[in-house]
Amino acid sequence: SKTSLILAFETSCDETSVAVIRDGRKVLANEVATQIKSHQRFGGVVPEVASRHHIEQITICLEQALQTAQVDYADLSAVAVTYGPGLVGSLLVGVTAAKTVAWAHHLPLLPVNHIAGHIYAAQFVQPIKFPAMALVVSGGHTELVWMPAENQFEIIGETRDDAVGETYDKVGRTMGLAYPAGPQVDQLAQQGQDTFAFPRAMQDEAGYDFSFSGLKSSFINRVHHAEQVHEQLSQVDLAASFQAAAVDVLVDKTVRALHEYPAQQLILAGGVAANHELRQRLASAVANQVRLVMAPAQFCGDNAAMIGAAGWMLEKHQVRADLDLNANPSLEF
Ligand code: KG4
Ligand code: ZN
Repeated sequence: SKTSLILAFETSCDETSVAVIRDGRKVLANEVATQIKSHQRFGGVVPEVASRHHIEQITICLEQALQTAQVDYADLSAVAVTYGPGLVGSLLVGVTAAKTVAWAHHLPLLPVNHIAGHIYAAQFVQPIKFPAMALVVSGGHTELVWMPAENQFEIIGETRDDAVGETYDKVGRTMGLAYPAGPQVDQLAQQGQDTFAFPRAMQDEAGYDFSFSGLKSSFINRVHHAEQVHEQLSQVDLAASFQAAAVDVLVDKTVRALHEYPAQQLILAGGVAANHELRQRLASAVANQVRLVMAPAQFCGDNAAMIGAAGWMLEKHQVRADLDLNANPSLEF
């Protein structure tokens, strides 16, 4: 059959990214312009600032991606774009760029759900075998997604409050670390020990929902209390104790879900999937249960390559959007 060559756009949050993907699995180019520096002084992503950066970066990323991949518009088979969930002003930049290219070059437009993109990043390791279970952990999402077949998604559990990445970032901020603090908390945790006994919320409850706000509060309270009484706390032990609590819950719920759902594969995806302890603990916990496929670290954070991989699935199933496609900040599966 004809070669698939997809141009993909991702602008849902604070990375502007354009990629070129061949046959869903081969990354020919993946340009990522991060805005992290611009948001750091605010301690988090400022939507207005994000949209403006996307507008400045999108054409630069597009030209660079085409050049790196050594492809011309005429070679493309489709254009894929994240149209939700995410920040509306940010999403609109990618959606507008994708629609423009699709219109100008008479190409099909593939509407990609950002979470599906994170999940399909696993395809850069190996083709996904269905039925599959995915644990999606990012700055905005913490979800267990059951996939009975290609392009079928059922959220069986999700966070009732904060996402796990968001919790990492807030906890890190309390420790004086720069945004996004997840990678630094991960590094510190590797040198410390779980000595603080932070709560594992909903660990023993039925169902697959998560909650991280209790863990966040108890961490912040502990640090503030220490400041008041001038007690010195070990930074590495704090990080290790927080991480142990977060990872415990994620691993336990996932293992439990795999007892109920007959998955052939478990996929670990999203920005927090780069976490060392989560990767290790999940791998050993499910070793005798299913094959674990973890997105390669460079495709865990937001990027357009994963959007191209998910777009390929839509192309295969002839799912297309019209040129009136709109951004949907609260898009669900
Ligand atoms: O998927 P992503 O790039 O953006 C969203 O869609 O949210 O995820 C970003 C999140 C941030 O909260 C960041 O702190 C977290 O992923 N993160 C990590 C690690 N690397 C990134 N959290 C824990 N450990 C890491 N190694
Ligand atoms: Zn993401």
